[in-house]
Order: sequence, then structure tokens, then C-alpha cells
Amino acid sequence: MTFNPLQERGIPLDKQLRNWRELNVTPTDPDHADPYTRCRIITMNGIEVEAIMFNHHLARHCPDTDLKQHLARVRYIEAQQQKAVNWLLPGLASVLETTIAYEQVAVDLTAWVARMEPDPYLQQAYQFGVLEDFDHLYRYSNLYEMIEHRKAEKIVDQLTEIMPGRPTYLHHRNPVDNVREPYDKTTAAPISKLHALTIMSAEQQTMNFYMNVGPLYMEPIARQLYQEIGLIEEEHVTHYESLVDPGESWWEMLLNHEYNECYLYHSFMETESDPKVKNIWELHLNMELEHLRLAAELFKRHDGRDPEQVLAPELPVPVTFEPNKAYLRELLSTQIDYTTLGTGYVQEAHERFEQMQQALMGGEKAPSERVIEDNRAVSGHEYRLQTDGEHPITSLAADR
Ligand SMILES: [Fe+2]
Ligand SMILES: [Fe+2]
Ligand SMILES: [Fe+2]
Ligand SMILES: [Fe+2]
Repeated sequence: MTFNPLQERGIPLDKQLRNWRELNVTPTDPDHADPYTRCRIITMNGIEVEAIMFNHHLARHCPDTDLKQHLARVRYIEAQQQKAVNWLLPGLASVLETTIAYEQVAVDLTAWVARMEPDPYLQQAYQFGVLEDFDHLYRYSNLYEMIEHRKAEKIVDQLTEIMPGRPTYLHHRNPVDNVREPYDKTTAAPISKLHALTIMSAEQQTMNFYMNVGPLYMEPIARQLYQEIGLIEEEHVTHYESLVDPGESWWEMLLNHEYNECYLYHSFMETESDPKVKNIWELHLNMELEHLRLAAELFKRHDGRDPEQVLAPELPVPVTFEPNKAYLRELLSTQIDYTTLGTGYVQEAHERFEQMQQALMGGEKAPSERVIEDNRAVSGHEYRLQTDGEHPITSLAADR
């Protein structure tokens, strides 16, 4: 079934405003919800936050009052969508439980994108990043067991494995080495542009979340771990945002944003298991179709080009949350010792990397190392969830 969002009719903009009753969505059931429903909610919240912030930045560069007013109207709807989406979360989760869910999103969304990405350079960027968020999941899960005395499988179920990835303390690179080469907007496949926007938005929301919630904990190790991983999410946003061609005009960027919102709502509508949540994805898709039509008008007027020249002729295969265990195990066994040098990847610790490590560690162990030792001391073991057997790297086996 082909679906070309440029050919579909959405809800007129002046019919998109919701009152309090309509915005008061029924949250998902905290005990019985599919973990991947929560992953879709978190993903779409990241996408809507990016829609709002991108629109604000565009408006700040826009000298024309009429255009600013138009952007404000669309942005208000994006802000309502963000409320409806994020308020689907049921409100019982602790900060750390939400954190573990965010890292599950990072793992299974990035792994899926890596599997689907046609461009080898871009694919490498996702493969590189996913092994780091995979390790964050392990570190936070140990913190969770230690301070909340619960197990992370309560959150991720058996869908995502939890064990060491590329060790978190080795993610601290010189910022210079976090900048990648961008795709070329004239030759990149449309799906590559959508992938880059999606992962950039997800990582940006994780970065924002950690910088705000980290100090809500009193335990010193928790405060320190959020500082450490918060800084790595800054590196991840740098890594992923630099994949986007900065030569795209503001109107082309707007068009890509709205198209990506259509793509993701359509994807999640097709794959959602919770009927009430599916209704929200469908409603928002119908709003986004109109946002896309309006963005296409602006693109034609200001760039003098046809949207068909830059967008896909039909929606690509739906973005799907599903286990990526075998794929991740394969990456662990081949890429765990990668780091970056300039815009490429190497397997040895180079001088600039070592200097950054020394400056940041100050002769001490990183919080991400201490949290595992501390949990071993408190719980008698470290926390892992290895559903598919022992760790693919022998030296990282649990019973070594
Ligand atoms: Fe939106
Ligand atoms: Fe992470
Ligand atoms: Fe990340
Ligand atoms: Fe939109």
C-alpha cells in the first residue's frame, strides 16, 4: 500500500485546535502497557519538541510579520500535540524508570535505523552511537537496582538485553572528534534525511531530560552518573546533528521536519498495539498532512522549487520498534573498541582522546564505573538481562 503524504488531505489548520477536554488524553495503563508503546510515545515527544524548537528558531530568523504569525499558528498546534503525546505517559514512573525507557528507545530505534540506512557512512554513525546508549542502559539499570531495589526488566520486559556495551567512560571524546561529515542534500536518499532528523530529535530530548532531572536525586552516585551521561548525550547530539546537510534552506528544513512527522505518525499508526494510542497517532497524522501542505506552499514560494524534488515519492517502510538482539550482539563483537578521530573512526586511543580522558577523569574512576562496583557491593552482583546467552565478548562475560 503506497501512501504519498503530499497527495493526502489533512485537517484544515483552523480545525486543529483542541479544548481542555480533548487535550486531556487517557494515559496508558502503567501495569499492562506494551514497553514499545511507551517507546513510541517517547519518540513522538522528542519529535514534537524538535518541531516546536525548530519553528521557534525559524521565526527568530524571520523578519516578515505575516510569516511569523503563520509560524506561530502552526507552532501552537505542535505544542498541543506535544502535550497530548507526552501526557499519554501514566505518571507513576520514577525519574530513573523514565531514564531506562529513554535508553531503551535509543537502543531499539537507533539499531532499527542502522539496519535500514542505505548510506554506509551514515549507517556507521548509527552503529557507533547505538553501542554507547546500549551501555548507558546497563549503567542506569545498575543504579536502579542499587537505589530503588528493582530490576530493569520490569521496564524493558524481555525485549532489550542489558549488558555492557562500549564502556561509558570511553565515550568522553574531544568535542572536535564528535563532528561528522553531512550527507549531501542533492544526492542523499530521502530516507537518510528522515533517519538523521529522527535520531537527532530523540538524542536531543534525552540530553534535555538528563540536564534537567539529574539534580533531582540526592544520592551522590546518581547525581554524578547523570552528569556523566548527560555530557555524553551532548556528544551524541553533536554527532547526529552534524549528519544533516547545513546547506538546506530554512524552508527545505521545515519541509523535511513536517514530512518526518507524517512519516513517524503513519509508521506508529500502522504498528501500534494500543487502540487508544493508535487513535492519537491517526489524529496527529491528519494534522501533520496539513502542516506538510503549508510547508510545501512556503517552500514553493520562497525556494522556487517543487517539494517532489526533495521528498520521497511515497512513505518508506514504517519505523518499527522490535527487538534487535542479534544485530546488537554482532555490533558488540565487531565495533566495541571503536572511537572517532576527526570525522572518521579508529580502533586505537589516539593522543587527543587520551588528553580528553586525562583532563576529565582527574585521576579518578568515572561514575559509570563506580556505579557497577557500588551495586555489586550492595546487591551482591551486578545487574544484567542476557536473554540470549553470554556476552559476545569473552572478557565481558558475567561470570568471568
Ligand atoms: Fe507535530
Ligand atoms: Fe544514552
Ligand atoms: Fe545517546
Ligand atoms: Fe507538524
